[in-house]
Parts: sequence; C-alpha cells; structure tokens
Amino acid sequence: MQVEQTKKYFDSIAKDYLRATASFPWNIIRKKEFRQMQVILADQAFQNTLELGCGAGFYTGLLSECTEEKVTAIDISLKMLEQFSYKNVEKVNSAIEEFTPPREFDLVFSVGSIEFLDSPKKFFKLAKESLGKNGTLIIVVPHKGFLTRSYQLFHLIGKREIKLYSRDELLSIAAEHQFSLAESHPFAPFNHYYQFKIK
Ligand SMILES: C[S@@+](CC[C@H](N)C(=O)[O-])C[C@H]1O[C@@H](n2cnc3c(N)ncnc32)[C@H](O)[C@@H]1O
Repeated sequence: MQVEQTKKYFDSIAKDYLRATASFPWNIIRKKEFRQMQVILADQAFQNTLELGCGAGFYTGLLSECTEEKVTAIDISLKMLEQFSYKNVEKVNSAIEEFTPPREFDLVFSVGSIEFLDSPKKFFKLAKESLGKNGTLIIVVPHKGFLTRSYQLFHLIGKREIKLYSRDELLSIAAEHQFSLAESHPFAPFNHYYQFKIK
C-alpha cells in the first residue's frame, strides 16, 4: 500500500521535479548538497554502481562520471526515470524491495529514499547482497528530529508515511547486516551522510 502511494506521488510530481528543485528555496539547498557530493566523490573510481531510488537523476550523472562500467539506477516511478538519460546508465523501473541484483557492484548509493520504505532492513539486505568484497555503501537520510518532523507531516497530509530514524537506529540496522561505519557527517542542511563498508 505504502509502495503504491509512493509510486503514485512521485509519478505525479516527476515532470516538474528537477525544475522545482532548481527554483527558490530548494535550489540553494540542492546546490549545496550537490557540491558536497561532488567533493565526496571526487577522485573516487567505481566499476559498477547501483543507485537505489535515483528519482529524476539528480545524482545519476555525477555517479556516471565516477563509474567506469555502468550505473544501474532503479526507481519505482517510471515517470521519474523518464526525466533523464546518460550513456552508461541502465534505468530499471522496480521497487527496491523487489529488485534482484543482476551483478556485483562496488558502490551502492542512495539519497532520500530509505525513509519511504516500510522497512530499512530490506534496503540494507539488498545493499549487502549487491556489494562485493570491499564494497561501499553511501546513503543520505534525514534523521528523526524536530526539523524533519515538518517533512514527515507534509507527507502525512498527502497520506504517505515516511519513516525517520536516529543515528543509533541506523547504525544498529547497518551492523545487523555486517556493515561497518567508515564515515558520517551532516549533509546540508537537513540530511546526514553515511558511508559504510562491508565488514
Ligand atoms: C525524494 S526522491 C529522491 C530522488 C533522488 N535520489 C534525488 O536525490 O533527487 C525519492 C525517490 O525514491 C523513490 N522510491 C521511493 N520508494 C521506493 C521504493 N520502494 N522502491 C524504489 N524507489 C523508491 C521515489 O520514486 C523517488 O524517486
């Protein structure tokens, strides 16, 4: 049910998604986020990247530049996927919960998607199954907190439930799936950045 509602919602906003994020005030926030991610990914080279919940491709182009073979970008909303196209990106219209990794990846990357899932455990399970030895998992998520309550309320008004987690909750779920924390810090201004390695 949650999955269907999420899909409907993102299908309905897909066409204007990139334009909306390029207009005030979101442009300021997203530009800052993008620059931060550019710095993080600079000088990193991956062979095969899996992006979970790629949306309209805000980060997909950047990922394609630091991926030597292919980026596999999955999203539940076909309309979001229709908003972008990059040469070495394979787009897959699938729910994260139903996706079976077709090959081994060395980077799994996801921004702003875990909070839409019924269970983050399925996300971490998929990430673990997708990554080879020394694989990297990068996620950006909003934490549970006063500021993000309004984001949750916004979705609640639209009858969509988003789930927020504390740092401890996320680290505990990650550890359950044999991920160890390599790096974490705030990600401007409402989100948090985590980089994990397979234990
Ligand atoms: C807030 S958007 C973020 C998109 C992109 N990562 C970005 O930073 O612009 C969340 C995306 O996750 C996708 N999504 C949400 N739940 C999903 C699920 N269960 N399976 C696959 N994609 C999902 C939505 O369709 C949407 O495109």
